[in-house]
Amino acid sequence: MAVETPQVSVAGASRSTNPLDVFRIAIARELARITNLDVGFIFAALERSSTLDKGDLVLAVPRLRIKSADLTPAAQAENLVSQSQKDDRSIPRRKLPLVKQPIADGISLQFYMNPAALPGILLPFVLQHGNDYGSDRAIGLRNPATSSTDNSTGNIDEDDATRKTVLVEFSSPNIAKEFHFGRLRSTIIGAFLANLYESCGYHVIRMNYLGDWGRQFGLLASGWEKYGDEAAFDRDPIRHLFEIYVKISADFKPEERGKGSRRRHIAYFKRMEDGDPVALALWERLRALSIQRYEATYARLNIRFTDYSGESRVRKETIARVLQVLEDRGIAEPDGGALIVDFAKHGKKKVATAILRNRNGTSTYLLRDLGAAVQRHDDYTFDEMIYVVMSEQEAHLKWLFLTMELMGEPYTALSRKTEHISFGKVRGMSTRRGTVVFLDDVVNDVTDFMHEQMRGNATKYREVADPAQTAEALAVSAIMVQDMLGKRANSYSFDLQRMTSFEGDTGPYLQYAHARLCSISRKAGFTRDDLLATPSDFNLLLADSSYAYDLLRVVARYPDIVRQAMKTLEPTTILTYLFALAHTLSSSYDHLRVVNPPEGPSMSRARAALYGSARQTLHNGMVLLGLTPVDR
Ligand code: ARG
Repeated sequence: MAVETPQVSVAGASRSTNPLDVFRIAIARELARITNLDVGFIFAALERSSTLDKGDLVLAVPRLRIKSADLTPAAQAENLVSQSQKDDRSIPRRKLPLVKQPIADGISLQFYMNPAALPGILLPFVLQHGNDYGSDRAIGLRNPATSSTDNSTGNIDEDDATRKTVLVEFSSPNIAKEFHFGRLRSTIIGAFLANLYESCGYHVIRMNYLGDWGRQFGLLASGWEKYGDEAAFDRDPIRHLFEIYVKISADFKPEERGKGSRRRHIAYFKRMEDGDPVALALWERLRALSIQRYEATYARLNIRFTDYSGESRVRKETIARVLQVLEDRGIAEPDGGALIVDFAKHGKKKVATAILRNRNGTSTYLLRDLGAAVQRHDDYTFDEMIYVVMSEQEAHLKWLFLTMELMGEPYTALSRKTEHISFGKVRGMSTRRGTVVFLDDVVNDVTDFMHEQMRGNATKYREVADPAQTAEALAVSAIMVQDMLGKRANSYSFDLQRMTSFEGDTGPYLQYAHARLCSISRKAGFTRDDLLATPSDFNLLLADSSYAYDLLRVVARYPDIVRQAMKTLEPTTILTYLFALAHTLSSSYDHLRVVNPPEGPSMSRARAALYGSARQTLHNGMVLLGLTPVDR
């Protein structure tokens, strides 16, 4: 594939997964010859351009630190341009250079991929990598062509020993409580991060840390004794528990709440913590059935958890171990019967105290989280752990990480592996059905709305084979795209009308773009082998069209964008790219006919390969985000 450049290994470069690196290496070698600098050094300085009008790759010349007393960086840039021109003419083997002559732009050099070389390199690359295009999972693959037809990673796990493990904790709803926006966003962002790490070669543990323990569950259990209804529970455990919780909480409104009844449910929780079998048996049942329902709902969003853990699953021994360390090392101190950490006393600027154990001996949220972190590391020995939790819990997680840090080794090391990924609020997330008890309620509501919109266009509606299913797929994309559009830290308004629209940067728009590409390849009728038969033709056939060129350039950056997303951990990094791809596509259709083009059948094939690659790229980006691309 990289016809002219013999294999050189450059740190951070991956020719086998990132086409831009093929060009980066070519440029770096060229400049290395001129400047005598190290190839790897130049390679690392070559950045992807921010927009295509600035070239494909950009080099800020000062980064080369060329020592020259009399030349300004701009003059150095000019110099490099003229020297590379000279060299190019003098080297006969460069019949088809990968990159056009650089352009000096102030202190920078802009590099454009050669339109006569790009198609022949890129299109086979994308088509062969298939579902793995943009993923570093493929590094372990000896022959990507054979495994690119599905998502299976079955045959590449031989290198598991070298894979890093990341534990991503996300979603983590509270049983019997409202499904707050915080859980929605955590679900969407967490699922994306898990996919992202996986696609970059990590072994990923997806953990749901249920809010299934604490004093309020003493209350819920007493509510069950009063209001529990087996039939209603069987029908919809999540909603029934929520209703019970609402009723029993109302019974305990401050004005009606006698000290005695409050003490009763605290006492019930104490029984749970002490391992009372009767109290626990009831609790286990409520929990198990709730999880069954959770699983079914997450499946609608294509999410499967490795582990339904939860606050209740933190082992007593682990908590005891943590407490022991906290006490032995003088981090925790008694405070009127409770146990607390006073951060100020440990040289932390934070003026805060956190409670670890309540007066009656029961654990707090913080203590359970400490135990949970240690236990997760015991169970999974991860390299990194990510908490995808709304910004409101920033302080809590800070205390958690700080306490671990104070605890000394091995806990300090553990605290360094942890990271809080936080996100802003959603305004106005309510549904027409009333309280959002679980994810289902949101999905159902948006699905109904989507379905109504689709019915609005009677002719189109009749063409859709399974409208209910399509409506759901579109609704799920609508919800997810709306959530991932901005930076995580930004808040947004839940806007049914806007998110379900086929215009603008929405989920349905992306789905439409994908379905249109599927329809093009159905009409063109080439198999993948047809497309791969004569890739060298692509250079001749596609070089002259600026529309083809721009589309190729956008497609070529996808793996680099995924790499960038690993740095930002922002879904919008991928999403913004996908919208740019979709826009480039829609302005190309009128200019690049695929079916029966006047230029003849080989042009039809070249363009089918071009659109096929664009479809693959869009598909892979959507899947990475957690969307399910529709074909029609
Ligand atoms: N269940 C919590 C809530 O809904 C979120 C859990 C956050 N994760 C953690 N390890 N504390 O508020």
